[in-house]
Amino acid sequence: MIINPLGFPLDRRILLNSGHSMSMLGFGTFQGTPITPSARSTVKESVLHALRTGYRHIDTAYSYGIEEEVGQALKQAFEEGIVKREEVFVTTKLHQTFHRPKDVEIGVRRSLERLKLKWVNLLLMHMPHAYVPGPDYEPVLKDDGQPMIDYEASRDYVGTWRAMEALVGEKVRSIGVSNYNILKMKRLLENCKIPPAVNQVELHPYFPQRNLVRWCRERGVVVVAHSPLGGVPTAAVATNLDAGKPLEDPLTLELAEKYHIRPSQIILSWGLQRGTGIVPKSNDPERIELNAELVELAREDFERVEGLKGEGEEVRFYNHERLIGFDIFDEKVEDRSSTRE
Ligand SMILES: NC(=O)c1ccc[n+]([C@@H]2O[C@H](COP(=O)([O-])OP(=O)(O)OC[C@H]3O[C@@H](n4cnc5c(N)ncnc54)[C@H](OP(=O)(O)O)[C@@H]3O)[C@@H](O)[C@H]2O)c1
Repeated sequence: MIINPLGFPLDRRILLNSGHSMSMLGFGTFQGTPITPSARSTVKESVLHALRTGYRHIDTAYSYGIEEEVGQALKQAFEEGIVKREEVFVTTKLHQTFHRPKDVEIGVRRSLERLKLKWVNLLLMHMPHAYVPGPDYEPVLKDDGQPMIDYEASRDYVGTWRAMEALVGEKVRSIGVSNYNILKMKRLLENCKIPPAVNQVELHPYFPQRNLVRWCRERGVVVVAHSPLGGVPTAAVATNLDAGKPLEDPLTLELAEKYHIRPSQIILSWGLQRGTGIVPKSNDPERIELNAELVELAREDFERVEGLKGEGEEVRFYNHERLIGFDIFDEKVEDRSSTRE
């Protein structure tokens, strides 16, 4: 087991309901959209540096457009003996143009080809809603440049899930979802053969999602925090831009001084300590290392971060409503009308 300088076991794992175990500290690879040539060339080095540092979970997605580079890094890491395939947990996500059940396997095959892998450890349905696929599975765009919603596939996320279930085994070890609220989790759990192992959602001290985390935990679904430092949402979905950032919050700064560590380390330590996975992204070698050097916060300090945003004060930084025309996060009933053509 790799122990970082502060004593935290880097490969702290959790047993998923699929019977496989997942490293709770993952490495995020989202480089923004559209992806720039410089971000593309950096991501391979970043993933390699993360693996050399001791990260044993890489989080990527078809839609990030960098699976090729992640695959090159993994291949080099295997060849150089930095890590063996069995030791690294690779998560990728089904893009929204592959939601029609007949297309799910095609999406997974494409990800595997790009990643140069025979199997991924975890396949997540990236979003509950789907886009109309173009001839090469690129989203068909409306006149306003936004992706055209595939309403039928969006309503039938259970159908997409069943097609994912059929892939569990040779190509995919565990399956899960991302950006699912309690309402959609309920419908999925009531209708699935294989329950989701993971729900990956926006989660940080400004958006702790206490109800969702509790609800998932009670049902054996592990929650993984995307954007654990507050994220870098693309302009199309960014919201609450004037709400400040958890990295700059006075409490985070105060605790960083108390523990003689960086604000990012306070936030990420809190994330792991509450039992959620975390997938921080960085392209900076020093930050990649710092983000893996985590501590155990004293109970009272943990509680202060946990209570930073009380009920009704939570600040979400991602909101897809403007982009897609309906709410996927805070719907109170499963609003089929919102997915009406
Ligand atoms: N499922 C989903 O829908 C979804 C959505 C969003 C993200 N994700 C996943 O979650 C991962 C993490 O989210 P994210 O990349 O949006 O945001 P994040 O990890 O919360 O934050 C990344 C940002 O923080 C900076 N940063 C990293 N370490 C830092 C440190 N120690 N001190 C100060 N700044 C630091 C990074 O800049 P530098 O690179 O310059 O260090 C980058 O600008 C993604 O990469 C992706 O894998 C999933």
